[in-house]
Amino acid sequence: MGAMTKALALAAATVAMAASRAAAGDGFDVERLVRQDCGACHGMTLKGGLGPAITPEAVARYDDETLATIILDGVPGTPMPPWRPLLAPGQVEPIVRFLRTGDAE
Ligand code: HEC
Repeated sequence: MGAMTKALALAAATVAMAASRAAAGDGFDVERLVRQDCGACHGMTLKGGLGPAITPEAVARYDDETLATIILDGVPGTPMPPWRPLLAPGQVEPIVRFLRTGDAE
């Protein structure tokens, strides 16, 4: 199984997990989403894994709008998936804030 296939399988599993949580009516826990779902590729500490580091220092070069677009639309041609189908309106801003500060508050 190539790295790309693995990453896509991982993305599909991640998506299924996130969807089942949403169906269970869980509250939106931005820290859990970022650490578990994003952390699957970017590392639990967000310092990089399959994907690059997304620590506050690493994302400082993007403005909020660019970060939101990357998260919502993914990075085409790479394993970074689009999150738009999984996020309710208003959920991308807390993710951007979390990445900026490394803090859910
Ligand atoms: C299936 C693996 C995977 C998952 C899950 C994933 N990413 Fe990514 N992400 C990547 C890869 C790979 C890249 C690098 C894309 C490229 O080559 O430009 C990336 C790039 C990024 C970038 C741009 C980083 C940069 O320096 O250009 C951001 C920001 C980002 N991801 C945020 C997130 C967030 C937030 C989540 C969770 C909502 C997430 N990612 C989930 C694989 C993933």
